[in-house]
Amino acid sequence: PAQLTLALLKPDLTANSIKTAKVFAHIQKNEFNIVAQKKLLWSKRDAEAFYGEHRGKFFFERLCGYMTSGHFHALILEKPNAIQDWRALIGPTHPPRARINAPSTLRSLYGLTDTRNSFHGSDAVDTAKNEIGFFFPEFELDRWEEEQ
Ligand code: CMP
Repeated sequence: PAQLTLALLKPDLTANSIKTAKVFAHIQKNEFNIVAQKKLLWSKRDAEAFYGEHRGKFFFERLCGYMTSGHFHALILEKPNAIQDWRALIGPTHPPRARINAPSTLRSLYGLTDTRNSFHGSDAVDTAKNEIGFFFPEFELDRWEEEQ
């Protein structure tokens, strides 16, 4: 059965239109269906709301500064096993480690630093639901599920 996940193409990637086009092609080649997409620009308050669980961590200010530095893409991706598959495609959180352990992943190819890691993916079914609701409150999740 198809599953949904929430993906972000973060500001460092979105700032580069050639890299962004390559990533969209990569997403399609890997048979993800893009069921919704938005290009956004966050305020500091938006970033702090989404990343609330990281408040107090040493990288929190850096993370919020990064995520408010420019436009980024939010996508709802659909595929059987979408949550796990998208996380496998983007690779480990830290690009320098991804380059060693997972060289063909998106963070290895495009990520800049531990903070500016270019991508996000939901990590579980309940977080995917919450994150889809955060970015796409108008998306009718219940109806999508009924139609499966
Ligand atoms: P993501 O996993 O999408 O959500 C949390 C973000 O915090 C993560 O991507 C990085 O952008 C950032 N982050 C996580 N760990 C670190 C770290 N050790 N140093 C700096 N930034 C980090």
